[in-house]
Amino acid sequence: MGNKRCDLGLIGLGVMGRNFLLNVADHGFSLTGYDLDADKAKQLNKEKSDAHNIHPAGDLADFIAKLRRPRVIMLLVPAGAPVDSVLEQLTPRVDQGDLIIDSGNSHFKDTDRRSDKLEGQGLVFMGMGMSGGEYGARYGPSIMPGGPREAYGRVENILSQAAAQVDGEPCVAYLGKGSAGHYVKMVHNGIEYGIMQLIGETYDLMNRGLGLTAHDLHGIYRSWSSQELASYLVEITSHIFATTDEKTGKPLVEVILDAAKQKGTGKWTEWDATDLQVPTPTIDAAVTMRNLSSLKRERQQAAEQLRGPAAPYGGDQQKFVGQLKDALYSSMILTYAQGMALLRRASTHYGYGLDLATVARIWRGGCIIRAALLEDILSVFNSSPDLPNLLLNRNFAQEVILRQNQLRAVVSAAVQMGLPVPALAASLSYFDGYRSDRLPANLIQAQRDYFGSHTYERSDEEGTFHTQWRQS
Ligand code: 6PG
Repeated sequence: MGNKRCDLGLIGLGVMGRNFLLNVADHGFSLTGYDLDADKAKQLNKEKSDAHNIHPAGDLADFIAKLRRPRVIMLLVPAGAPVDSVLEQLTPRVDQGDLIIDSGNSHFKDTDRRSDKLEGQGLVFMGMGMSGGEYGARYGPSIMPGGPREAYGRVENILSQAAAQVDGEPCVAYLGKGSAGHYVKMVHNGIEYGIMQLIGETYDLMNRGLGLTAHDLHGIYRSWSSQELASYLVEITSHIFATTDEKTGKPLVEVILDAAKQKGTGKWTEWDATDLQVPTPTIDAAVTMRNLSSLKRERQQAAEQLRGPAAPYGGDQQKFVGQLKDALYSSMILTYAQGMALLRRASTHYGYGLDLATVARIWRGGCIIRAALLEDILSVFNSSPDLPNLLLNRNFAQEVILRQNQLRAVVSAAVQMGLPVPALAASLSYFDGYRSDRLPANLIQAQRDYFGSHTYERSDEEGTFHTQWRQS
């Protein structure tokens, strides 16, 4: 490579890292890549074929030496301890002003801690979420950067070219200071969990409830994905039902164990929403159901002992499938509403200064939760940037109101059939709770005051009150 140095260095050459590196290289930037595992660097060497702008490094010193100064180094390593370990090895070798970007699914509080530490050492640090899986990394992810604005300016050109493009606009934008990027990615994943669970529940109702086959389900999800439900997750669901297991000849989905794994971002969303007192019941239900699914052995034992209703669905099947479509669409809206409301609160609480229209804009392409619906979410936040909840927008409210009877019918039928639909039911209760100007929290206030003298407020008078509830 002579005296010419690389524009960007990438540490972590797993599938995501390698694919993103090849993506950036396609746009003409020069890159170096390094991984602790020498086999991964070899793999990159193989895949880069005749690309002259990719220069894999043999060790960290070589990697550092190959970079133009001030350096830009991106980490794509698993969240948690591996990030700290790479930073420990890296920081003594780099120079003041060098920029380090953590592009994994790090917890936002870790990002704040690392930013403080690295800034104290004269380095520049950014936390950046990236979504889209292996394919997205290779051909255009949605990128969610946060940190110092000037630092973003240094990589904007590279990221804008590597990101997914929708209507000529890149799915990347500066989101805000500190851990804003990782926070937005966390909520993206919370929404991802919610929608996956909702789709899973519609599958269960059609499969166990109506007895539809994988072949039928392929057709139904395919048709749904060309209508208002058009989205990446509905589309891949349709493909999944068309995939056959080579070993058994059965639909592959039927031989996959029904115990879902999780790396933590859904749970973190639920935790932080609870901390900030923002209701996210659909996301919470999705996390709970992953946990319940993992109790496979216990469930097998319980299935022998705990009998429920056994009657199949007795109504009109085709009508029920139509109701499911409406139930899923309205619940998807309610899930985005929860995620956006959480972002709004977090933005104030953590001082991120998020613009929700920008978030919706960069989620329209490349990421796992991309959906036609995001176009409408974008236009709502473009015209009302401070809207506290999507349900307060007349069009969105109308979309849910029009479908509420279908959602109610689906939840009732599921209850009658004994099939679990916690995400659909939670979405409906969110709607019913949010639209109630009176909830039973007055009784909860009274109970708290009764047993703990915690006091209560009155609806007809300002102030704090306490009652001596027991007379004796
Ligand atoms: C994405 C995905 C990605 C990853 C999830 C999986 O946006 O590309 O969200 O980040 O696949 O983190 O998360 P779980 O293992 O928790 O399901």
